[in-house]
Amino acid sequence: MKDLAGKVAFITGGGSGVALGQAKAFAAQGMKIVIADIRRDHLDQALAYFRERNLPAHGIQLDITDRKAYAAAADEAEKTFGPVQLLCNTAGVSQFGPVQQATYDDWDWQMSVNLGGVINGIQTFVPRMLAHALGSHILITASMAGFLPLTLLAEMTNIGTLFAFVIVCAAVLVMRKTNPDANRPFRAPLVPLVPILGILTCLLLMFSLPAENWWRLIIWLLIGFVIYFAYGRKHSVMKHYLEHEISKHGISPGGSLATDVDRIDEGPPKP
Ligand SMILES: NC(=O)c1ccc[n+]([C@@H]2O[C@H](COP(=O)([O-])OP(=O)(O)OC[C@H]3O[C@@H](n4cnc5c(N)ncnc54)[C@H](O)[C@@H]3O)[C@@H](O)[C@H]2O)c1
Repeated sequence: MKDLAGKVAFITGGGSGVALGQAKAFAAQGMKIVIADIRRDHLDQALAYFRERNLPAHGIQLDITDRKAYAAAADEAEKTFGPVQLLCNTAGVSQFGPVQQATYDDWDWQMSVNLGGVINGIQTFVPRMLAHALGSHILITASMAGFLPLTLLAEMTNIGTLFAFVIVCAAVLVMRKTNPDANRPFRAPLVPLVPILGILTCLLLMFSLPAENWWRLIIWLLIGFVIYFAYGRKHSVMKHYLEHEISKHGISPGGSLATDVDRIDEGPPKP
């Protein structure tokens, strides 16, 4: 599916988190958004975002484990916007805490939402998608914790986050030279001392991590570089937005970070 404009997306759990991010990104590409979420307060907050921007979005309070309600929600979505061509099975829950404290109820709840909810989505929408035959996609979101041990993920997150802080500190130093007139919504005190100390302390912590962590970081980085140079560099919405702002104002944009992120959410400016 390349041309998303005007098509309908049904996004479970779209009231918050990852699914709300998906809803914003698809709306920015011109899709009509149906958000299905169990929580009314999440729905209301999410819908306010779309209302403020005049983007077509419709909220349905739905527990994805309820099969009858799921079918009714699909009917409501079709009645509101027409046939659904993208189903995002994104609602997910987790019982945080030690596994030995989990009860049967905890396991049943997680299985019914994380697995049962996805099955219900597929059962509800696949026959409808085949019937309208407009070309459809189903997107299922899972956590890396489903594929890798949690301790390994934690180690990778540690080294990745520290490395990101090294880059941020270095960027503060470099951008003072390469883009001195940029409007800066935040101030870094005692430059260059604070960024240099930041780099050194992060590197110190990184070198205290086991060697295999470094290998994982390097391999992860290489994969990231391939994706970035083969796709991300050309297609980055943020890059197009910044290029537009710099060509218009001669400097990178000012304003609060939140405002800029919201403007980036809306996609590159139309010529
Ligand atoms: N947050 C992350 O960093 C991350 C990373 C990788 C994968 N994921 C996966 O993405 C999915 C969403 O995670 P998140 O962090 O955005 O969670 P979240 O808690 O922010 O959002 C989940 C949404 O689903 C809704 N929901 C919960 N149960 C529901 C049900 N029965 N029916 C309908 N809606 C229901 C909640 O109300 C909430 O709005 C999960 O499957 C998670 O494993 C998250």
